[in-house]
Amino acid sequence: MFDAQAFRDALGSFVTGVTIVTARDADGQPFGLTANSFNSVSLDPPMVLWSLSLQSGTLPVFRDAENWAVHVLSADQQGMSDRFARAGADKFAGLAVSDGPEGAPLIEGYAARFGCRARFEYEGGDHAIFLGEVVDFDRREAEPLIYHSGRYGRVMRAPTGEDLEREGLAERSDDALSLTARGHDLLAALQGLAKR
Ligand SMILES: Cc1cc2nc3c(=O)[nH]c(=O)nc-3n(C[C@H](O)[C@H](O)[C@H](O)COP(=O)(O)O)c2cc1C
Repeated sequence: MFDAQAFRDALGSFVTGVTIVTARDADGQPFGLTANSFNSVSLDPPMVLWSLSLQSGTLPVFRDAENWAVHVLSADQQGMSDRFARAGADKFAGLAVSDGPEGAPLIEGYAARFGCRARFEYEGGDHAIFLGEVVDFDRREAEPLIYHSGRYGRVMRAPTGEDLEREGLAERSDDALSLTARGHDLLAALQGLAKR
């Protein structure tokens, strides 16, 4: 038998960023949700995709929207990700909402933003796959938020060949990486303690 939980766990091995996708309904009300199914598709024409659960209350909004925008979240936007992952809540309450050039609600603080014209919708089992043409985009020098095995994370860059050479570790790059990772965990634990 197909083990659904094991399947989810296996998919969780694939590290992603975290996005919030937004659009306005026919009355101009802003809608949005947290999504990590975002992916690049085409460079020319520039196209991206993401998928939305058929259970989502926001499905009719995205089915009708002519434009939507994908915000790639920065590392300090974990709270924003949680907020937009809560079904039914007034997710925009207290947020200053303006529009991006393509007309979708804009959330500040992102690492990158892609304003899209809705192009295609495909069936994807229990999800709808939305493909959009990027008509406007913006990028900031901000560390991205990442998602892995159901948990948020931060980017930890591997040392380059030059770094290892300089430190005399070129022959032991795996040891060096594992040490860096342990150092990183220790630092995070200490920071957690300091905040208590
Ligand atoms: C990190 C993360 C990634 C998610 N990715 C998706 C996704 O790609 N597609 C999706 O339909 N729901 C995704 N969700 C769940 C939705 O954000 C959640 O179901 C939300 O409540 C849907 O909002 P709605 O019911 O108001 O449409 C994700 C949640 C989290 C925390």
